[in-house]
Amino acid sequence: MPATSVLSDPHTHARACGLDPARLPRHAAVIMDGNGRWAKRRGWERFLGHRKGTESVRAVTTACVELGISRLTLYAFSSENWHRPRREVDYLMDLLAEFLRGEIPTMLDNGVRLTAIGQLDRLPAQVVSALDAARSATRDGTATNLCLALSYGGRDELVAACRQLAQRAVRGEIAPESIDAEALRSALYSPEDVDVVIRTAGERRMSNFLPWQAAYAEFIDHAALWPEFTRDDFLACLREYQGRERRFGCVTTS
Ligand code: FPP
Repeated sequence: MPATSVLSDPHTHARACGLDPARLPRHAAVIMDGNGRWAKRRGWERFLGHRKGTESVRAVTTACVELGISRLTLYAFSSENWHRPRREVDYLMDLLAEFLRGEIPTMLDNGVRLTAIGQLDRLPAQVVSALDAARSATRDGTATNLCLALSYGGRDELVAACRQLAQRAVRGEIAPESIDAEALRSALYSPEDVDVVIRTAGERRMSNFLPWQAAYAEFIDHAALWPEFTRDDFLACLREYQGRERRFGCVTTS
């Protein structure tokens, strides 16, 4: 994110980018793929792709702030990523802590609120404390909620929600027959529906990302590897999103 504030008329900005401000996604989610390939193509260690990928994180977050997109969820570390080589996991955790600590002033300048979802208690202490510091410092941010999915797995999230509801039923707080979609939704880490899921590196998988929230999301794949994914690429994805007809299972009358 730029060091200076980018808070200025999102509607004008959207139009200047060839976007209809009334039809922007409220919640965009990104599966950031291709860091390792980007580095390997240069004969470098995979880690350097993750580091370079933080620049794309800044670019996309800034674009969301400029456009007034209220929520951006980034798949930064999946529950399966713990199975990567120890050195890579350690590097990613150090990088996350560094990013969280370093970005606080810029997030404050730009009205970004930092949140996180996932099994956060599995994260190393330095990441937990950097996360706590960033969440607390930015809690009043109203421009864009930047939500990092960390140690996140969609099935884990659904299991945790079911377990929470079962425990409440056992305690007599809710009747089992009162459990409906709304009850399950409200027990999720974060219940907000996703409008668009973007995946880089040309891959077309959901990889256990927000299975409930993205049930009716538009999916857009982009060929760029994440470290080379730019603001213009993000805008192109949003234009593609605006070209889609969202029907939510219904038929159109026009
Ligand atoms: C997938 O690429 C990417 C990840 C597992 C990590 C994403 C992390 C970052 C972009 C950097 C830190 C994030 C933040 C929010 C500061 P891959 O390694 O699987 O790529 P490959 O498929 O080419 O091997």
